Amino acid sequence: MTESTTIRWEQDDTGVVTLVLDDPNQSANTMNQAFKDSIAAIADRAEAAVQADKDAIRGFIYTSAKKTFFAGGDLKEMIQVGPENARQAFEAGTGIKNSLRRIETLGKPVVAAINGAALGGGYEIALASHHRVALDAPGSKIGLPEVTLGLLPAGGGVTRTVRLMGIADALLKVLLQGTQYTPRRALENGLVHEVVATEEEMLAKARAFIDAHPESQQPWDVPGYRIPGGTPANPKFAANLPAFPANLKKQLAGAPYPAPRNILAAAVEGSQVDFETAQTIEARYFTELVTGQVSKNMIQAFFFDLQAVNSGANRPKGVEPKTVRKVAVLGAGMMGAGIAYSCARAGIEVVLKDVSAEAAQKGKGYSEKLCAKAVSRGRTTQEKADALLALITPTAVPADLAGCDAVIEAVFEDPALKHKVFQEIQDVVEPDALLCSNTSTLPITALAEGVSRPVDFIGLHFFSPVDKMPLVEIIKGERTGDEALARAFDLVRQINKTPIVVNDSRGFFTSRVIGHFINEGVAMVGEGVEPASVEQAAAQAGYPAKVLSLMDELTLTLPRKIRAETKRAVEEAGGTWPGHPAETVIDRMIDEFGRTGRSGGAGFYEYGEDGKRGRLWPGLREHFAKPGHEIPFRDMQERMLFSEALDTVRLLEEGVLTSVADANIGSIFGIGFPGWTGGVLQYINGYEGGLPGFVARARELAERYGERFTPPALLVEKADQGEKFSDS
Ligand code: NAI
Repeated sequence: MTESTTIRWEQDDTGVVTLVLDDPNQSANTMNQAFKDSIAAIADRAEAAVQADKDAIRGFIYTSAKKTFFAGGDLKEMIQVGPENARQAFEAGTGIKNSLRRIETLGKPVVAAINGAALGGGYEIALASHHRVALDAPGSKIGLPEVTLGLLPAGGGVTRTVRLMGIADALLKVLLQGTQYTPRRALENGLVHEVVATEEEMLAKARAFIDAHPESQQPWDVPGYRIPGGTPANPKFAANLPAFPANLKKQLAGAPYPAPRNILAAAVEGSQVDFETAQTIEARYFTELVTGQVSKNMIQAFFFDLQAVNSGANRPKGVEPKTVRKVAVLGAGMMGAGIAYSCARAGIEVVLKDVSAEAAQKGKGYSEKLCAKAVSRGRTTQEKADALLALITPTAVPADLAGCDAVIEAVFEDPALKHKVFQEIQDVVEPDALLCSNTSTLPITALAEGVSRPVDFIGLHFFSPVDKMPLVEIIKGERTGDEALARAFDLVRQINKTPIVVNDSRGFFTSRVIGHFINEGVAMVGEGVEPASVEQAAAQAGYPAKVLSLMDELTLTLPRKIRAETKRAVEEAGGTWPGHPAETVIDRMIDEFGRTGRSGGAGFYEYGEDGKRGRLWPGLREHFAKPGHEIPFRDMQERMLFSEALDTVRLLEEGVLTSVADANIGSIFGIGFPGWTGGVLQYINGYEGGLPGFVARARELAERYGERFTPPALLVEKADQGEKFSDS
């Protein structure tokens, strides 16, 4: 018999066995090999004990000795699983599932005392219990987020949620979005039975359940049990079924995410068979996902890279962490208003300054609107909303910025104005206040020349809408000091956003790279490709915004302005401007047809009086389309994806980017590079045939569509040496 090393068996003299989840080798419990052995040993021991003396054990309580209840699957193991280990992966999952099932069907009550986050495997242990009591611990989350890593919950998660809440609720509330619920919301949505405030209460409730149910089994093991809402075997249900695949297809817009499809299939097929067969079906669909490339990409980005970025792999070492107490936000327009809200939400006092008291108040009005909405939706209380709003002081008077230990400037994109507003306040705020600019295009090194302390000056590039967008791009100017960089990093973390760090360059990382995506889409219109196909190609590649509609949102005059400035800079430095086929399309749209985008009421799309987007402008076909001109759909998608990936490699070559994780995370969270790729450099790593495959394909695109697809030297070198893009 194997021994349990990660689960402690603690039996009291009343016959209640507490199964304490406590992996001695890790900070959190995971479903690793040791757990697989341990849970098997526990199942053996439990069966033997009950067999020897039916009354020796009265019930079981799963609980954890860690801060979290249980963290889920072991992602370090999973990311290694290739098709050659498919059998092993299938069997490993089956082993854990069988053990949980043996404990679940012993006839004794099993309770999950969820004393911290129970995500993925953790919630699956809870599902294999007859009763679930959750502690309302701060930050605690409950759910099955596997889909967000390109996987499905294969520890019985699909099989049991379908039986617990029915196919529709299991899919919509738990499986397809991977929603992470607070304990209270988990209770409201039927994921747990009780929520308690203290650990004592939690254990008391667990024992009370055991006392009240000396013989217990899962509802689905009671003969005659029916899955709530029915199954496809029922003609009434079957009539609704076709809506699921159709809705899913619509939601994914054709993007290559295999997990939702496999989840849907496992849920529907599993609902029509017995429990054991359903678990086998679930395991087969899981094995297909875990051995595939998309789950590897998503685990790399959304787990490993995100952790590296947020934990400060790029933060200068040795600078003491510092929290900001009071921040000055200069400019209360769209960005300033959003930045003020995000800071106040994190408990930071904000002085919001604009040219007039009215303009500043209008900026605060944005927070008032967001707060009112949050209260009406039950996401916050009136008291909390009032407290947040009380932190924001609108003003037009520079003297009111006294005591601010950080400044974030978000006035119009005009270097002279930016210099002026910094000069106005730099002697009013704290003498060592951190000085940040939210410029989206102006080089930070040049802007720093206009302030008295360039060493404390740094770029803090937020994305719109600020309250929703998780990323902030930190831009280090030539004279920015390490202290300022560390403090900017800490400030971004303080407001719960994800910081990436880049060196100064025109357009930094994000604006420069997204420009290639847009240019490529626009260029295809210019070549005569059907505009609707261009949009479709972007959607099916997995971009959250279609390319021409995005161009309209940003306004067509913006790339022209950036082009003029960049061209001048290139030529002043003695270079030649390479040009791009998108340029003539943009120029014609503006000069010939007067279409500047959404804000101008007309762009690649038509817009109603209310600003609502209508159909694609029929003039595009008339003036640009070449009937019968077609290029392969795959080329259309890869022109967009490759243009961004190739320029990211150039940014690494130029030293603007210094971290692969930053590039991956920045591309997904900042500029909508498709999540299934794992980010812009992981896309290259995971491309068919690896780096050599990517290089060959880039050369093919260069031959067909232009030199801009020629692979940069760094990429060719890495491909030749059999390397991948990695920070380690
Ligand atoms: P906006 O036009 O909505 O707001 C600018 C605000 O600055 C206005 O309220 C204006 O009254 C105020 N202002 C002008 N002079 C001032 C002064 N002397 N003192 C105080 N306030 C003054 O502009 P938006 O979109 O908020 O952009 C602001 C900055 O953020 C720009 O540098 C822009 O490039 C950058 N940015 C914009 C993004 C976007 O999506 N709109 C994204 C990222 C950065």
